[in-house]
Amino acid sequence: MSDIKNEIKKRRTFAIISHPDAGKTTLTEKFLLYGGVINTAGSVKGKATAKHAVSDWMEIEKERGISVTSSVLQFNYDGYCINILDTPGHQDFSEDTYRTLMAADSAVMVIDASKGVEAQTRKLFKVCAMRHIPVFTFINKMDRDAKDTFDLLDDIEKELGIPTCPVNWPIGSGKAFKGVYDRKQREVDLFSDTRKGTSMGDVKKVSIDDPEVDGLIGTEAKGVLEDEIELLDGASAEFDQDLVDKGELSPVFFGSALTNFGVETFLQHFLSMTTSPLPRMSDHGEIDPMTEDDFSAFVFKIQANMNKAHRDRIAFMRICSGEFDAGMTVWHVQGQKEVRLSQPQQMMASERKIIDRAYGGDIIGVFDPGIFSIGDTLTTSKDKFAYEGIPTFAPEHFARVRQVDTMKRKQFVKGINQIAQEGAIQIFQEYNTGMEEIIVGVVGVLQFDVLKYRLKNEYNVEIILENLPYEHIRWIENTEIDLDHISGTSDMKKIKDLKDRPLLLFIHEWSIRMTLERNEGLVLSEFGRS
Ligand code: G4P
Repeated sequence: MSDIKNEIKKRRTFAIISHPDAGKTTLTEKFLLYGGVINTAGSVKGKATAKHAVSDWMEIEKERGISVTSSVLQFNYDGYCINILDTPGHQDFSEDTYRTLMAADSAVMVIDASKGVEAQTRKLFKVCAMRHIPVFTFINKMDRDAKDTFDLLDDIEKELGIPTCPVNWPIGSGKAFKGVYDRKQREVDLFSDTRKGTSMGDVKKVSIDDPEVDGLIGTEAKGVLEDEIELLDGASAEFDQDLVDKGELSPVFFGSALTNFGVETFLQHFLSMTTSPLPRMSDHGEIDPMTEDDFSAFVFKIQANMNKAHRDRIAFMRICSGEFDAGMTVWHVQGQKEVRLSQPQQMMASERKIIDRAYGGDIIGVFDPGIFSIGDTLTTSKDKFAYEGIPTFAPEHFARVRQVDTMKRKQFVKGINQIAQEGAIQIFQEYNTGMEEIIVGVVGVLQFDVLKYRLKNEYNVEIILENLPYEHIRWIENTEIDLDHISGTSDMKKIKDLKDRPLLLFIHEWSIRMTLERNEGLVLSEFGRS
């Protein structure tokens, strides 16, 4: 295998998905600790500093202390080169969070053991399921009183519709959490004090058949464990790597990110079970990084306003095949032009650094003079193929936009189109009313503030947003349907996007079902084509 293919083969590019506060940041930090990137846990996180030290690009982030952008962290562990795609943790997450998942080959789903599956996890999981990527579950906070372990698994299976397969099993929870039982090795893994998670600690592995176990975890705990294992062996799905690869079975691990219990065990198993960079679909068929030699990448995120004075932007791209060299010239498929990729950068812990080489599986950010759009392909291949586009994700909040000074129409149109092109908001128009008013849709309400702020600061345009009550949007898949004849519910509104494609807005979710029932043959989708 060539050096480049070897580099690609050792890459593991994944996203961590969770509901805020489940422990995503803490777990990421512990991965960095084991990767030797940081020496003491606590140096990445610390709510006051690090959460936005990673991305202090926008004033609004600093003002509100919220990370609007997502970041990518790269580090090495045990011969692997790991790329973690972090997703904004705040409730007001944006479409970027979803798009980040398009760049990942697998996902780690962190669940709070006292809460089970929560709203944001559900939404992010749906996107993973759409892509059929492997999802690994880490049930966190076992050092606190947890829900019943079987109930937690049941919750995942019922709520998310994915069968689970526990790779290990917790021994007690809360103060009595001692470690985990490794089902395949048939041994208990006991963790030493890690000084509240600041050091790595030791793992003691003892066979379940060793009489020493009784003394180590107590006879009662051992009895409970044996009963649970017996029940589990009879009830749960068997581990099947093939199903895991297809995203049809989620391996489950238990631990406590805070105290480092089970973190390295999880990391090791996860790395061996997850996938190296996967092939991606293009208009010339599947492009496999193991057979394609040329460089290719697609843009999945555009970060604006890195430097307000220059209105510069950074385009984040996922490299899918080949090698990237700083300053290389590539073909921009959608722009039909050669471009030089300048100022390539990568995130290392909380710093951004300029890089000169990267490989398939890596994420890089390059300077964007305003030519890239989300989903664009860049390649050195003579084939000039284009990767499959990135879907448009359903906004959940809508508002009508009014300009304060109608004389500034030109700046307003320019600004709002630019911001929409970067993917921060989606813009729609009234359907058949003749009104020129614009409706904006966002995934997280914070994007409304971002829009207002940026239009004022960058385009000198003030707007008023009038919130609309709709929460659900659906794209109409069958183009032959005549929108005029769709009979919907009273809370339904017809709109169109800028390409004149019709869409439906609903206040209530049940109205979608009713509209489908009333209009035979109508096909609605939660994901739009870009
Ligand atoms: P997030 O990125 O998913 O939003 O979660 P984050 O890691 O920030 O963790 C949220 C809170 O949960 C933090 O507490 C963190 O210390 C705590 N936590 C994370 N993992 C565990 C765990 O395994 N066990 C326990 N008991 N707690 C855990 P905080 O008080 O909000 O912040 P801080 O003051 O500790 O920084």
